[in-house]
Amino acid sequence: MTTLQLEPLHPFAAEASGIDLSQPLSPAQVREVEAAMDRHAVLVFRGQPLTEDQQIAFARNFGPLDMGLHKVKTGPRRFRHAELADISNVKVDGELADRAHAKIVSNLANQLWHSDSSFQRPRAKYSMLSAVVVPAEGGDTEYADLRMAYDALPAWRRQQLEQRVAVHYALHSRFLLGDTEYTEAQRRAIEPAHWPLVQTDPRSGRRILFVGAHACEVLGMTVPEGRMLLMDLLEHATQREFVYRHRWQVGDLVMWDNTATLHRGRHYDFAQRRELRRATTEEVTTSVEAQALELAA
Ligand code: OGA
Ligand code: MN
Repeated sequence: MTTLQLEPLHPFAAEASGIDLSQPLSPAQVREVEAAMDRHAVLVFRGQPLTEDQQIAFARNFGPLDMGLHKVKTGPRRFRHAELADISNVKVDGELADRAHAKIVSNLANQLWHSDSSFQRPRAKYSMLSAVVVPAEGGDTEYADLRMAYDALPAWRRQQLEQRVAVHYALHSRFLLGDTEYTEAQRRAIEPAHWPLVQTDPRSGRRILFVGAHACEVLGMTVPEGRMLLMDLLEHATQREFVYRHRWQVGDLVMWDNTATLHRGRHYDFAQRRELRRATTEEVTTSVEAQALELAA
């Protein structure tokens, strides 16, 4: 029985309806969502405000939950569940964060093209972001399809990237922004992760150009040459035709596949409230991981 309806928004993004995300999903519904994710990589559910508990329950259908930068940045949190990332410009006391606050730095880092948790192993699979408060203008989120990006690479480039491995480091994007005040222990809290630049999705069989702001070096290349290559590839992967832009409404839940897409937040006025909440699953498949280890050896 089909319950999930899909309305394409872009070649790789679709609006999904027909499933109430606040209720427990049947195994068949979970499989339908996963199959839709294999095809589209970004699903937009409109008009589905979730409580914290409902959002966690929905996310757990798809695997164990990821904790992101939690290992580096500890301290008080706004949510009862450590598994929910507070994607907002609001402090623990509920007041707007001022310009120099760490929350604002996190917001800015999220405005660089990235794949959630690509700096760790296991990396993130699905992110599920729910909109609670949105600003009047700005603050959209953009998504880029890394499968379309691979497909559009010329043959010489594909050949050059074959067997190449990138190093993804948790604080690289922070350093890029000049956010460098971390202790040695924080710098070392998350070992860099190695991922092949070209991957094959074990579910859809499609090839993926896996880049993003956490990638800082290419194994076997000098740092400048590797970094320039990564910048070129990122520019290629985020051309407008590979990008879907999401304009948020309160109650939207957007689900994306971090192993097949990049995303970034867009500018908004930090004096206006923007509150979103994210649950993310860990990738459970080990085939890409195995390939990465083999290539890095
Ligand atoms: C995230 C993220 C971007 C945004 O939630 O992982 O990067 O637009 N969000 O808030
Ligand atoms: Mn993110």
